[in-house]
Amino acid sequence: MSTAPLSDFRSDTVTQPTPAMRKAMAEAEVGDDVYGEDPTIARLEARTAEILGFEAALFVPSGSMGNQIALRVHGRSGTEVIVEERSHVFHYEMGAMAALSGLLPRPVAGPLGRMPVAGIEAWIRPASVYYLPRTSVVCLENTHNFAGGTVLPRAAIEEVLVLARKRGLAIHLDGARLWNAAAALGVTEASLAHGLDSVMVCFSKGLRAPVGSAVAGSKAFVAEARRVRKLFGGGMRQVGILAAAALVSLEEERGRLTQDHARLARLAKDLAGLRGVSLDPGAFPTNILIADLDPRVFGSAAEALSRLKERGVLAGAAGGSSLRLVTHADVGDTDAEKCVAAFRELSTAG
Ligand SMILES: Cc1ncc(COP(=O)(O)O)c(C=O)c1O
Repeated sequence: MSTAPLSDFRSDTVTQPTPAMRKAMAEAEVGDDVYGEDPTIARLEARTAEILGFEAALFVPSGSMGNQIALRVHGRSGTEVIVEERSHVFHYEMGAMAALSGLLPRPVAGPLGRMPVAGIEAWIRPASVYYLPRTSVVCLENTHNFAGGTVLPRAAIEEVLVLARKRGLAIHLDGARLWNAAAALGVTEASLAHGLDSVMVCFSKGLRAPVGSAVAGSKAFVAEARRVRKLFGGGMRQVGILAAAALVSLEEERGRLTQDHARLARLAKDLAGLRGVSLDPGAFPTNILIADLDPRVFGSAAEALSRLKERGVLAGAAGGSSLRLVTHADVGDTDAEKCVAAFRELSTAG
C-alpha cells in the first residue's frame, strides 16, 4: 500500500477551498437571508445572473436542490419531464421530481448525452388526447456528467429551444458544469444559457467553492423559486459566509478550467494505449473521462477500484465495468502520472 497522499480522481467536488476563499469567508459581511438581509448573497446572486445573462438568480445549498426547485416551478404535478436517460436529474437525484413534485420523468436515450430532437419530439404528449399525461418540461445537461463531460454547443441547444417554444414547454438546464462547457467551447456561459427558462450552476465542482449552487431565470421564476426553496427546507440565515467563497470561485477559478481539460486529454491519451482499457481519447472534451475496463484484465470494477487505491489512486465507479476519472485543481501532473502508472501496472499484471 502506498503511503503517499491519495491522488483523488473521483470527482471535481473533492477540492479544498482556496486560501482566498477562506479569507473571504472569514471577512464576509452577512445578514439573515430569509429576511433578505444578506449583502454578500445579494452580490453573488446579482453576479451569477449577470454572468448567465438572466434577470435574477437564487443561491441554493446543492445542485440537486437547484434542479428540483426549477422542475417544481415549471411543472404541474402529474405532468412529464423529458430527460436524457443517464442525466443526473433522472439517475442520481433519488426520484426527487416524483417524490417532491409529482412529476414523471420520461427518459430519452442520447448518444454522448445529447438527446436527438426527433427523440424528444416523439415523447411530447399531444394535448388533443385528453387521457394522456401532459408534457411540461425538457431538461438538458451541459456538460453531461455520465456521458463523459460532453458538451452541448449552441446549435444543439437552439434546436431543442425551437421545438420547446413551438410546443409550449419550459426548458431547464442542469448546468452544474456549464463553466466547463463554456471554457471548452471558448464561448460565454450566457451564450449557452440564452433563451432557456432556467439554469442551475454549481460553485462547488470545478470552481472549488466548499458549498453551493444557484438557479437563474426571469425575476418571476426566481420569486417562485425562492418560495419553493423555503418549502424544500433550503432557506438559510447568515449564508453570505458561503456566498463569499462562491464569489471568489466565479472571479478566480473559471479561467483555470482549460488546464483541467488539457490534463484530462493527456490522461485519456495515455490510458487509451493500455491493454484492457477501452476509451476513445477524443470523446472527452472537458474534465471527465469514462474508461471501459476488460474484467479479464482488471477484474470487476470494484476490484479495479481497490487495486488502484492500493497504488494511491482514487477513481469512481461508472456502471458495469466502467470507471470515471475527473480532473480538478487538486490533481496535478504528478497525480496524472501516478494514475497512468497504476493503470499500466494493473493492465500488465492481469
Ligand atoms: C450534472 C450534475 N447535476 C447535478 C448535480 C448535483 O449536485 P449536488 O451534488 O450539489 O447536489 C451533480 C453532482 O455531481 C452533477 O454532476
